[in-house]
Amino acid sequence: MSVAKKQYKRITVKSLIEMKANSEKISMLTSYDFTMAQIVDHAGIDVILVGDSASNVMAGHETTLPITLDQMIYHASGVIRAVKRALVVVDLPFGSYQSDPKEALRSSIRIMKESGAHAVKLEGGSEIKDSIKRILKAGVPVMGHLGLTPQSIYKFGTYTVRAKEEYEAKKLKEDALMLERIGCFAIVLEKVPAKLAEEVAKSVQVPVIGIGAGAGVDGQVLVLHDMLGMNKEFSPKFLRRYADLESVMTKAIQHYNEDVKAQKFPNEEEQY
Ligand code: KIV
Repeated sequence: MSVAKKQYKRITVKSLIEMKANSEKISMLTSYDFTMAQIVDHAGIDVILVGDSASNVMAGHETTLPITLDQMIYHASGVIRAVKRALVVVDLPFGSYQSDPKEALRSSIRIMKESGAHAVKLEGGSEIKDSIKRILKAGVPVMGHLGLTPQSIYKFGTYTVRAKEEYEAKKLKEDALMLERIGCFAIVLEKVPAKLAEEVAKSVQVPVIGIGAGAGVDGQVLVLHDMLGMNKEFSPKFLRRYADLESVMTKAIQHYNEDVKAQKFPNEEEQY
């Protein structure tokens, strides 16, 4: 017999921890603007991440490094205006928290105050422990991010699977326990072996949300434009495309173009 799931009118950091305790999987997608966030929220997704992947998806940069704090706040403000149910988490962009805990706090406060976001996400473990503690002390909820951390791409040189070596897996497990201990409400695990991800998820009470981390974690996150099939050039193994919007949109735009050229648009009913 299936047990009815609790209906949440508004998702909070507490709801997510409760969902894990009740073995309910958490759904998370990115959004970077009002229109898409409204669709994602209406569809019932639990967490919307205003990811620094906006640097790739919205601005066409090769990495996430160039996006600025002001640009993240701009994207997050549009998302917040659209959302009625989901928890909105915003990435602290590269260069806005690495110097010291005071800078990390200042950047987090700007995000919370100027966009109205509900929480922030930072990439890294023990290296940024003091910054995370400082942000949490100010009452700002923090989501951690371990495994593949795209802001450190030039340190590693590739986007391959992380923590395959024993010493890396050990550090990742220690970092996850530390993030929970200091008060993070959830942890994103990106591109790590499924067995390790499941082990990490079982070792903490807070939800572990995976991307390329297998099915044994507490929730899944994907980049919205990737799962909608708007970018055919990006095809990692972990990505499932739920639509082929690139083809749908291209056909619609070509049709409109043909109609304009052939003077089929607008027709009698479409004018004043
Ligand atoms: O920026 C982003 O989209 C992310 C996800 C890949 C988790 O951090």
